[in-house]
Amino acid sequence: MKYREIRELIRLRPVELDRDRRVVSRCHDLADLRRAARRRLPGPVFDYIDGAADDEITLRANRAALRRWQFRPRVLRDVSEPDLSASLLGRGFSAPIGLAPAGYPRMMHPDGELAVARAAASRGLPYGLSTCGTVTIEELAATGHRDLWFQLYVLRDRKLSHALIDRAAAAGYRALEVTVDTPVGGRRTRDLRSGFTIPPELTVGTVLDIGMHPGYWMSMLRGPALRFASLNTPGAEVATSIADITSLFDPSLTWDDLEDIRARWPGMLLVKGPLGPADAARAVAAGADGIHLSNHGGRQLDRCIPTIDLVRPVREAVGGDVAVLVDSGIRHGADVAVAIARGADMCVVGRGYLYGLAAAGQLGVERAIDLLVEQLRRTMQLLGVVTIAELRRGGDELVVDPR
Ligand SMILES: Cc1cc2nc3c(=O)[nH]c(=O)nc-3n(C[C@H](O)[C@H](O)[C@H](O)COP(=O)(O)O)c2cc1C
Repeated sequence: MKYREIRELIRLRPVELDRDRRVVSRCHDLADLRRAARRRLPGPVFDYIDGAADDEITLRANRAALRRWQFRPRVLRDVSEPDLSASLLGRGFSAPIGLAPAGYPRMMHPDGELAVARAAASRGLPYGLSTCGTVTIEELAATGHRDLWFQLYVLRDRKLSHALIDRAAAAGYRALEVTVDTPVGGRRTRDLRSGFTIPPELTVGTVLDIGMHPGYWMSMLRGPALRFASLNTPGAEVATSIADITSLFDPSLTWDDLEDIRARWPGMLLVKGPLGPADAARAVAAGADGIHLSNHGGRQLDRCIPTIDLVRPVREAVGGDVAVLVDSGIRHGADVAVAIARGADMCVVGRGYLYGLAAAGQLGVERAIDLLVEQLRRTMQLLGVVTIAELRRGGDELVVDPR
């Protein structure tokens, strides 16, 4: 056979020279993005993202609880044009998916939160900046993203907490998410075992790791120093490490504090935690516009109830008009479909997009979003529904628990 004949038989795939494009083009689900993140990151940094509290029972239970649900599809419907758009808190989004607040994104990739906000904006989805963010409230707002939320850890120093609320309001953040499952920090066993610190300390292990992950370390060393950007103003460093941050958490927080925050914050208010129906109703009575059901992805109370199991009881307790969001364990568009059918308005994703960020910056986050959206679209089509409202109404007919 001549060379020309062989060439006609085999089409050569062009080699992608751009590293990030090459990485994302090989990721076909979020598990692939997780593997790509694992390859790029030093072990302790990967474990900081991937790990959870104590025995990681909740981490696994979140996935098991979501995977338990089975679909009972409708057939012979015209599903040629599914519409995934969703509304929440008076705003429209391209899909019922949000990006969760997370501490220290610039340790995962030098572009950190800016990359996440740009990816979220390009896909028409909301994004929450953490109190432990590595860019300031104002720097993130300057990206022009219209639907930024600010996640608040209420700190012992109430003046500092109030200053953060006021800055978020002044910078045009649309919602404040008050995290209520952190009276104290969870015990992250992987971090303790690996001796992980934020910021990373120079140990023999770190030096050896530089040889194993040169790309990561080069990009980190080129970027500006990592810091809790909104908490520390020049001349007033209140926290430089994770240990400092957790010591700022206030275990004496009560419902009165939530009412004070409501009175101070002019925008939409979400309460983020594993709220049962009674607490959810109480949060609404205290002025919350939405309940963000979250067990912190298993990073706080181990053996905590999987949040998917709270969706229906909370929806019944708060009624149809209050926004119900859910996170913890969402790794596939089919998980989003289950949550919507159980009564949620939106699913929020944490590690799913953080793996993408770590693997390939903004492109990686976009890939994570695109995969979730494509999976949700296909799931809806195979289920025989074409809108999010139809999926929600379909509820128990479409999604069944075989137990
Ligand atoms: C690395 C990491 C850092 C996080 N930091 C915060 C934080 O600063 N504030 C907060 O309210 N939640 C934080 N979370 C929890 C997320 O907002 C979200 O509830 C959780 O990741 C959802 O679970 P999932 O990772 O299984 O999607 C963090 C989660 C991860 C993985």
